[in-house]
Amino acid sequence: MEDLKRIAGEAAASLVNDGMVIGLGTGSTVRYAILEIGRRVKEGMEIVGIPTSKATEQLARSLGIPLGTLEDYEEIDLTIDGADEVDEDLDLIKGRGGALFREKVVAKSSQNVVIVVDEGKLVPTLGTKAPLPVEVVPFSVPYCMRKIKKLGIKPKLRMSDGHPYITDNGNNILDCDAGPIADKVGMEKSLKEITGVVESGLFIGIARRVYVGTKGGLKILERE
Ligand code: A5P
Repeated sequence: MEDLKRIAGEAAASLVNDGMVIGLGTGSTVRYAILEIGRRVKEGMEIVGIPTSKATEQLARSLGIPLGTLEDYEEIDLTIDGADEVDEDLDLIKGRGGALFREKVVAKSSQNVVIVVDEGKLVPTLGTKAPLPVEVVPFSVPYCMRKIKKLGIKPKLRMSDGHPYITDNGNNILDCDAGPIADKVGMEKSLKEITGVVESGLFIGIARRVYVGTKGGLKILERE
């Protein structure tokens, strides 16, 4: 499995060139891309990274990758990030690592978004394997849970060491067992209409290409 993640991550890092502003995703697959970018920065490549989480910021700093913010850079040339599920339209579920909100803001600020996954993340329909993470403001958790249940899906408050998990934005995550999501656009709209929902882990129409690490090597999927 690590080998497959490495194949995808390192291949995507080769898309990074001198002078680019790069969105740096979060997770164990994109980590391989960030390590490779760090190696090339040490060799003299000049780029600026915009991290999508505190964890990625720490990793990038440790590698000497210069960092900026969305205040400094209105537009990002390329974002490389992982995903929990990828469907046949190259739409995604993200957020198992808890960074979905910043990941979506950075992705939406990017001209090009490339996703790196191992082949186990490919599904015919989103929701087949992974729960759908939804970031909510802590005060609104009971209200959001009731509203989400009414959509026919089962929300579960994500816990960490016996306490509700806290995102980098000070919010909580509801991991929603939605089952295969037939109407992903409708689901996204319904979730975003709930007061207290900050963001959903559905990334629709965002990824341009997906680099997949497979047992047979690298496979590149492209949005039509
Ligand atoms: C982080 O919040 C997520 O969106 C990650 O991008 C996703 O969980 C993929 O992580 P792995 O590459 O570790 O599976």
